[in-house]
Amino acid sequence: MRGKSVLLIIGGGIAAYKSLDLIRRLAERGVKTRAILTRAGAEFVTPLSVAALTGEKVYSDLFSLTDESEMGHIELSRSADLVVVAPATADLMGKLAGGLASDLASTTLLATDKRILMAPAMNVRMWQSPSVRRSAETLARDGVLFVGPNEGEMACGEFGPGRMAEPLEIVAAVEQAFKVRGGPLDGFKALVTAGPTQEPLDPVRFIANRSSGKQGYAIADALAAAGADTVLVSGPVDIAAPSHVRLVKVTTARDMLAACEAELPADIAVMSAAVADWRPDIAADSKIKKDADHRIPALRLVENPDILATLGHHKKRPRLLVGFAAETDDVLAHAVAKQKRKNADWIVANDVSANGSGESVMGGERNQVHLITATAQESWPDMKKAEVARRLVQHITQHFRETSS
Ligand code: C5P
Repeated sequence: MRGKSVLLIIGGGIAAYKSLDLIRRLAERGVKTRAILTRAGAEFVTPLSVAALTGEKVYSDLFSLTDESEMGHIELSRSADLVVVAPATADLMGKLAGGLASDLASTTLLATDKRILMAPAMNVRMWQSPSVRRSAETLARDGVLFVGPNEGEMACGEFGPGRMAEPLEIVAAVEQAFKVRGGPLDGFKALVTAGPTQEPLDPVRFIANRSSGKQGYAIADALAAAGADTVLVSGPVDIAAPSHVRLVKVTTARDMLAACEAELPADIAVMSAAVADWRPDIAADSKIKKDADHRIPALRLVENPDILATLGHHKKRPRLLVGFAAETDDVLAHAVAKQKRKNADWIVANDVSANGSGESVMGGERNQVHLITATAQESWPDMKKAEVARRLVQHITQHFRETSS
């Protein structure tokens, strides 16, 4: 877990003092913590002690314009590998189960794209009340992880389940959560392609394209966060592999195809790579030199294998095969034609000419896409690539939920 980070939400409860120790225990294991202290939490521990232990600014539940300009609540919610709520109060559990966003902590919990681990702490009768039972069941169904509560004597003098798990038990649960078990796609194998391919002309020159790989990396990240065993076959890009994702680096389209076939069978395949359609017919072994007569070498191209179409017609075809269609005109018509020709189940289509702000989609942070499935076409608003990934994975999860029931 070294090098990972946790966003710790400290709710209001006497057990909040144990969260200070939790921060230390995590730090001992090389895990960085950033904290949100709810208004009620601040009645039990001070922002100063949390800041001293985390070595970071503490975010409070009161909306502060300074906080928002330094780091917006959405960004804060995505800034860590895991969100831990300790103590998780009946209030915080109820808000998340009901989809309420009335303060920084609940807004962050709703907005996060990371897993959530809750360490509940409350009075026995509260924990056993039908409404808290409902919240806990809803949250568990939504993929929220729980540690505790433990049984024992409580600060209020009653006995039973309600004591917050001990810091070391929470640390063990954090370690488990980093392994991304129990997500909605737990037990599924996912294959994602991303980035451009490079097709060599000689040892120093190649043909490539402007794909940054950002969309595909975000999809692999979101699939892994949902629990899928995820392999990312990536052309040359300069972004780091997401955690929990196995990265296979390739250069050419032919390498990419071989790497993908080696990963079959897979349940889900999302082909977001911008694979070069053609490659130079021969890649020279040594650098092509200018000749004395200034003759310009002719470039002859041959067709590359189509990875999506090959997987679409493969005897080990993935159960759900998603292709991308980057178009500059007639986006939907071309995408539907591609879906049929390549035997893809779904197509994510986008216009790559430029978005509203004039930023290029290739290399940019945002994307505006249409999702074309077997039965429907949806147009999504312009959003961050990570959000496109999250929504796509939600659809994938839903698809498997429906087809398995
Ligand atoms: O035909 P076009 O390149 O627009 O198709 C895009 C879709 O096909 C993407 O999903 C892309 O990853 C995939 N593709 C592929 N192999 C190719 C060309 C495209 O897998 N050689």
